Amino acid sequence: MKYTVKEILSETFSKWPAVVHADLTGKTVMLIGASTGIGLEASIHFANMKPARIIMACRSLEKGNAAIAKLEKQTGYTNAELWLVDLSKYSSVLAFADKFEKDGGRLDIVVYNAGVLPLKYTASPEGWEMTLQVNVISAALISLLLLPVMERTAKTHSTTPRLVIVSSGSHYFAEVPDVALQSPKILEKLNDEKYNTSSVMRDRYPLSKLLVVLFTRALSDHLGASFPVVAVDPGYCHSELRREIGFPLSALNKLIEYICCHPAEEGSRQLVYAAVGGSDAEMHAAYIALSKVKEVSDFALGEKGVEAQKRVWDELIEILSKVSPKIPSIVNQWGPAGSTS
Ligand SMILES: NC(=O)c1ccc[n+]([C@@H]2O[C@H](COP(=O)([O-])OP(=O)(O)OC[C@H]3O[C@@H](n4cnc5c(N)ncnc54)[C@H](OP(=O)(O)O)[C@@H]3O)[C@@H](O)[C@H]2O)c1
Repeated sequence: MKYTVKEILSETFSKWPAVVHADLTGKTVMLIGASTGIGLEASIHFANMKPARIIMACRSLEKGNAAIAKLEKQTGYTNAELWLVDLSKYSSVLAFADKFEKDGGRLDIVVYNAGVLPLKYTASPEGWEMTLQVNVISAALISLLLLPVMERTAKTHSTTPRLVIVSSGSHYFAEVPDVALQSPKILEKLNDEKYNTSSVMRDRYPLSKLLVVLFTRALSDHLGASFPVVAVDPGYCHSELRREIGFPLSALNKLIEYICCHPAEEGSRQLVYAAVGGSDAEMHAAYIALSKVKEVSDFALGEKGVEAQKRVWDELIEILSKVSPKIPSIVNQWGPAGSTS
């Protein structure tokens, strides 16, 4: 579908749906990118549902501790744990996943909420453009590494875990550019420093959120009915996301945010809906916005999108298999690596 200006305006100025509530007794919820904004507010909603544990994955000890203090103060919940992870570094993501595997606990809900919106090209320590690294590649790596624990949880506790990755309504305005589709490797082309001029970087964030949609759909296809993998749009909210916008654009941004943005708490309700709302069947490969399953962009559904989805999946598996020797066997647990349907 297309996201029209009329629809954007009506969604922006509508009353957003209330938070859904579920019984999370005995369950473990993991929120990746929980230090601030929408992720912290979602953690607070989950805390009100009293799961056995909430793992709040943050990169900063100071911000993570402050987030837990806020959650405890608002909810009285005392089983939130701070786990440090820097999603720009493979070593940190691998250590995080390893720690969880050794922990041996169950894992019912994973919400990958972390995201960045840099306006200029910067490379991660791994040599990937930072938006690709944090919003897409680390999301895929951590998701794949946690799949066996979620699968084990499903079998041991006769439950259906959910994996939620935060996308954005901005994905409706993105396309994988022809120059990348015509290159042997899509992600490699998108990562080319010379290609990443300031005008290309302006479109990088929506493109990263389209890549998230393509990855969640490919992973859902690959996992079949095992458990739902959901992409979610929290909606346009106040947060620290646009922190890198410099003056004078920041002044205009502040004005638009003042008029259009909802509080981060309201956006966080969508993460909660994707994690515990609806039925497992309707959540399969779903894209959630305003507590409804919504069709993804025409690009994602069209010929080029379907081709990009398959190629991006294959490339991610190839890249990540070099990062962790566990990836091929994890992927093969649900069928051959290249299979997404
Ligand atoms: N706000 C909106 O209007 C909107 C709309 C649609 C989608 N979204 C999406 O919603 C999600 C949450 O964003 P937000 O608006 O709440 O923005 P935010 O306030 O900037 O929160 C982003 C979160 O990601 C974490 N993060 C970023 N880079 C990281 C890294 N390398 N390692 C570990 N954590 C990292 C941040 O940690 P630090 O605190 O340490 O930086 C923070 O917890 C993002 O995926 C965003 O793209 C937001």
